[in-house]
Amino acid sequence: MKIGIDKIGFYAPHLYLDMNELAKERGVEPEKFTIGIGQEKMAVSPITQDTVTLAANAAAQILDDTDKQDIDMVIFGTESGIDHSKSAAVNVHQLLGLQPHARAIELKQACYGATAGIQMARGHIALNPNRKVLVLGSDIARYGLKTPGESTQGAGAVALLISAEPRIMEIEQESTYYTDDIMDFWRPVYSDTAFVDGKYSNEQYIAFFQKVWNSYKEQTDRSLEDFAAICFHLPYTKMGLKALRTVLDEVGEETQTRLKDQYQLSTQYNRNIGNIYTGSLYLSLLSLLENSEELKAGDKIGMYSYGSGAVGEFFSGILQEGFEKQLHHTEHNAMFEKRQKISVSEYEKIFEQQIPTDGSVAEWSTNEDPAEICLTGMQNHQRVYQVK
Ligand code: CAA
Repeated sequence: MKIGIDKIGFYAPHLYLDMNELAKERGVEPEKFTIGIGQEKMAVSPITQDTVTLAANAAAQILDDTDKQDIDMVIFGTESGIDHSKSAAVNVHQLLGLQPHARAIELKQACYGATAGIQMARGHIALNPNRKVLVLGSDIARYGLKTPGESTQGAGAVALLISAEPRIMEIEQESTYYTDDIMDFWRPVYSDTAFVDGKYSNEQYIAFFQKVWNSYKEQTDRSLEDFAAICFHLPYTKMGLKALRTVLDEVGEETQTRLKDQYQLSTQYNRNIGNIYTGSLYLSLLSLLENSEELKAGDKIGMYSYGSGAVGEFFSGILQEGFEKQLHHTEHNAMFEKRQKISVSEYEKIFEQQIPTDGSVAEWSTNEDPAEICLTGMQNHQRVYQVK
């Protein structure tokens, strides 16, 4: 039985910041951000969107009534969750109107959460082939104003429907993974911005890639030539390229050119959104599938997942017959085009807006937010959501 990705949904908030403008304000050359880091635009989340609403909006786009009956597990991968106890999967389960005989949990391991969710979902479907699992990767990446990490922030969510006989990509059994206790990036529970050792995190991302790629080669006897494309976790779009370059000399020029060309296509959406942490790898997959004209059924796609702290995994998928019919290229293009540019000072104001933490009541208008599902305020230490 094949198990894998049947549908992919994606949602980003309607506001963005132009990286050229941020560079000017911060007194650096724009090319540092657009070429050195590889980011053009950064999605900015208004106060009316949090990780719950971003995920619910991503999933609402893809689920039909049959899916809502068939899903019996919701796995929410995030490292910017809203509660230390209750899982955001329960909130999304309710907002989407899924049938109640379901499991709903939140998973955390930095940007690796959604990958862990997909692998768990595979096991669940293997035992329950008639069921479906909704895996969510939703995050708001915050490093802080005027910090080195500021240019690598972003916000958004990806929703993946995992099922038997998937229509987009079968996830193959072969997979290699690696864990080591390192402090490259972390966020203590008292902080709403991440701490990071930037250069070390870059080094570790590459070191973990080499470890899992080398053991994947050993275990499978496969080489880079077997892959039509490789998608990477993308904290910023230059990062995956740095890792890819370290292995390209394993193959001839033709394969190198193919992998580099497909890599560019796999970074198009991320370049305009920024880091969405645990959803980033899957946004990159979506970018590749919706923008590449070379891909065909039967092609093998490599996937490198990295979650600081750290866990790395390399696995692969096979594109299914008719996969392109399951994509929403036009709708996603429209979403990108409809976004609203904000100035650096507007972004700073939004960044500093805080959700009350003292139990006071807050209410926000959602008239300006085009999302179907929004956060409208706080009452009794509880978030209040609206489905328009
Ligand atoms: N034109 C073109 N390129 C330029 C340039 C110019 N005018 N000026 C600088 N550059 C280049 C630099 O040469 C450099 O390129 P290389 O890395 O290829 O050498 C690039 O721009 C970045 O410059 P710096 O290294 O000087 O940038 P920085 O020190 O200010 O910060 C960063 C870069 C470390 C990535 C920082 O943004 C950061 O800490 N980000 C958050 C951490 C992160 O994303 N880590 C990634 C791995 S960890 C992970 O993947 C998990 C996760 O999601 C967080």
